[in-house]
Amino acid sequence: MASFTKELKKITKKVKRFLSGERTIYTQRMGDLKVAKTDDYALVSYEKDGAFDYEAYKKIQEAGNRRKLNNIFVQEELISQIAQRIGPQGGIQRILCHGTRNGAEQKLFKKYFGGVEVLGTEIAETATQFEDTIQWDFHEAKPEWLGHWDLIYSNSWDHSYDPVKLFKTWESCLRPGGWMVVEHTRVHEADKVNTLDPFGISFEGLLSFMDKNTSLRFEAEIAIHDDLNRRAAFFRKPL
Ligand SMILES: C[S@@+](CC[C@H](N)C(=O)[O-])C[C@H]1O[C@@H](n2cnc3c(N)ncnc32)[C@H](O)[C@@H]1O
Repeated sequence: MASFTKELKKITKKVKRFLSGERTIYTQRMGDLKVAKTDDYALVSYEKDGAFDYEAYKKIQEAGNRRKLNNIFVQEELISQIAQRIGPQGGIQRILCHGTRNGAEQKLFKKYFGGVEVLGTEIAETATQFEDTIQWDFHEAKPEWLGHWDLIYSNSWDHSYDPVKLFKTWESCLRPGGWMVVEHTRVHEADKVNTLDPFGISFEGLLSFMDKNTSLRFEAEIAIHDDLNRRAAFFRKPL
């Protein structure tokens, strides 16, 4: 009887959520960590005794960075297409890339945008080994970055512990009319989350997530045909 009442309560809660338009949210365990899942996304929470454990998050990211230090995820073709899509009329002079490991994307942006200032953030202490890279957690903004950047690019946003904070921070760093280009592949999907890549969402989910949580407007998408189903979504800060 007790378990029947418990089940009934659960179902009632789900129906109420459904009627209020809220997505189904449930949690499951991943080792010591919890994963929150909605219909659209999954997010690992690095909790210890009920509080966010930033040191645990950073340690995991740094270990992952060291393990994969020589890997390059970014694809030249995608950066070349980003440059084509924004074009010489885009007025791009300052580009900020987030989660850049060994600095490969900074080189590509310099190649395809020519004569621009490019900076990359990287949480791991290995950042200092690479050109145009600073050791910095991309959830935070330096005061001088606010409204400063013409273009922000990342393929590493799935390493975020708090994607609402993340995209709001990035938005605040764009000048009016500035672009945020977010790369999406099948490894950014919700079923791919793990302790190193804590946030996962579908491409369409990402568009509505951005719409719901920022003032950025979706402008365009591009795709290259590789085995990762690589795409990029272009968002623009209103003038
Ligand atoms: C999947 S790799 C991508 C690296 C690079 N963008 C590329 O295309 O090769 C993600 C990188 O983001 C870094 N990272 C993870 N969390 C971060 C954070 N909070 N702030 C800045 N960098 C972070 C990781 O250390 C790692 O080097």
